[in-house]
Order: sequence, then structure tokens, then C-alpha cells
Amino acid sequence: MVEQLEGRVGVITGAASGIGAAMARRFSRAGMKLVLADIEPEPLKKVADELRASGTEVEAVPTDVSVGAQVDALAEAAEAAFGKVHLLCNNAGVGSGGLIAQLGEDDWSWVLGVNLWGVIHGLRAFLPRMMAHGEPAHVVNTASVAGLMAAPFMGPYNASKFAVVAISETLYHEMGLTGSKVGVSVLCPGWVNTRIHESSRNRPGGGPSGLEGGGMLAAVLASGLPPEKVAEEVHSAVVENRLYILTHPEMTAGIETRMKAIVAGQNPQVGLGELLANRQEQ
Ligand SMILES: NC(=O)c1ccc[n+]([C@@H]2O[C@H](COP(=O)([O-])OP(=O)(O)OC[C@H]3O[C@@H](n4cnc5c(N)ncnc54)[C@H](O)[C@@H]3O)[C@@H](O)[C@H]2O)c1
Repeated sequence: MVEQLEGRVGVITGAASGIGAAMARRFSRAGMKLVLADIEPEPLKKVADELRASGTEVEAVPTDVSVGAQVDALAEAAEAAFGKVHLLCNNAGVGSGGLIAQLGEDDWSWVLGVNLWGVIHGLRAFLPRMMAHGEPAHVVNTASVAGLMAAPFMGPYNASKFAVVAISETLYHEMGLTGSKVGVSVLCPGWVNTRIHESSRNRPGGGPSGLEGGGMLAAVLASGLPPEKVAEEVHSAVVENRLYILTHPEMTAGIETRMKAIVAGQNPQVGLGELLANRQEQ
């Protein structure tokens, strides 16, 4: 359990924007040395420069988390810069939309490549090192409330986030069983005010994300939680060693309804409409 963050080393992916940038700012305030990774070099440099100006030791490492060799290189770069890594936030992610019946192989492989393989590569590259150094450490995987409820039009996204929840819970058990000092958290937010609706900006080959023209989604996101609030919750969960980070209490009823329906053998009742309605009632 990482109670003491000051002077420790954190690695955050997807740190150039939204939730990742907010986590970088929060852990910078906690006195950590930071290695920030993102596929967008310029915005990444901006966040790194901002934190450096505030006195934080920062290394910016442009990285495509869907490429295993690049995440291995990130782990090497982090160790070369600051030594042992104590906090890993596998946060980089992209959003997408569309009916499953109309999606192509590329649609699936892009989203699963970033959101699922990015987390897998992060664990593969960093976890053995974090376990070997023996000091308290923590992994935060960014999933979503979409990892706990399967709303329509979000097949690849939901699949990636359900998998990240499953991996995180599995890892939690394994770290406990092996007496490891690595804690695990999985972040499951609802709507957060970020640029996720503009995810196609990072799609290789410039293909669509299925969220284009999504004025409604942009409006829903704009009414979502500020990323700083989410980062605050992440900070608390790390120091308190909590697995599940649910940042949107208005959505927990939907999760409960789904779980109850599953064990009762009933068909699901929660869809995207209900998720949106829940938020707008706030
Ligand atoms: N915004 C929300 O409502 C919301 C809700 C639940 C979960 N999430 C999750 O939060 C995480 C952060 O997203 P956000 O909302 O801050 O969006 P964002 O678009 O503002 O930030 C995502 C960051 O990930 C980076 N990225 C994209 N592809 C990458 C790749 N291949 N390699 C490295 N970096 C890459 C982007 O450049 C960007 O800086 C994602 O995993 C997302 O699924 C977001």
C-alpha cells in the first residue's frame, strides 16, 4: 500500500488530456516524480512543461500504448529517468460508437488495441519490475462504468472496459494471494468532461470513431464530472488501497439493477437512454 507518495515515481498513460492530465496534476501536487506518456507529443509536452514549471521532476515519453515494444521502451525510459516505479496508471483510451452489426475488423482492433492491449502491455512491461523491487506500489487501470453495464452502440468500448475490470479484479486477487506489495485499483467513471468524443484524432489512418456529429455526446460530456474530481478520487483510492473507484453515485443504481437481473435470470433493462437520463436528472 502506497501511503507515502512524496518522492515516489509514477507513470501515467494518456497524460496529455482529460483524466490522465488531471491525474498527472494531482500526483504532481502529491510530490511524485512523473513519467508521462501519450500518443500526442505536443499536448504531452505542454502538460510536462506545466508540471516542470511547478517544480515537479517530469519525463515525457511519446508512446502508442497499443504497441508492445513502445510500452517496453516506456518502462525502460521510466527506470532510466527515475529508477523504481511505484505507481502505474494505465489510462490511455479511445471512445467509439456504432452498431455491432455494422462494425469492421479495424473498428474492433483499434479500440481493443488501445483500451485493452494498452492495459495488458502496461502490466506486462511494468508489473514484474514493480513486484521485484519490493517497495509498496500500486496499479490503476482506467475502465469505465461501461465495464459494469453494457449500453448499446458501444460494443468494442464495452468489451474493452469489461475486460479491464476483469483483469483488474483478477490481479487484485493474485497480488493478495502472492503476498505482493502491489495494490490495484480500477477506475470506473461515468461521463467526464474530456476530449474522448474527439477520439478519432488518434485513430491510425484517420478513420472515424463513430462518434462524429455526436453533438449530444459532446453536450453530455460537457455536463459530466470535471476530470480534477476524478483524479481526486483516484488519489484517495491509491492511498487507501481501494479496488473499485466509482465516481458517479447516480449510476450505481443501474449497476445494481443489472447485477440483480443477472442473478435472477432476467433480461437486461438498463440501456444508453437510462444512463443519459440519470445524468440529466442531476
Ligand atoms: N470521458 C469520459 O466520460 C470517460 C468515462 C469513463 C472512462 N473514460 C476513460 O478515461 C480514459 C481517459 O480518457 P479521457 O476521457 O480523458 O479522454 P481524452 O481523449 O481527453 O484523453 C485520452 C488520452 O489518451 C491518448 N491516447 C489515445 N490513443 C492513445 C494511444 N494509442 N497511446 C497512447 N495514448 C493514447 C489521447 O491522445 C489522449 O491524450 C480512457 O481510458 C477512457 O476510456 C472516460
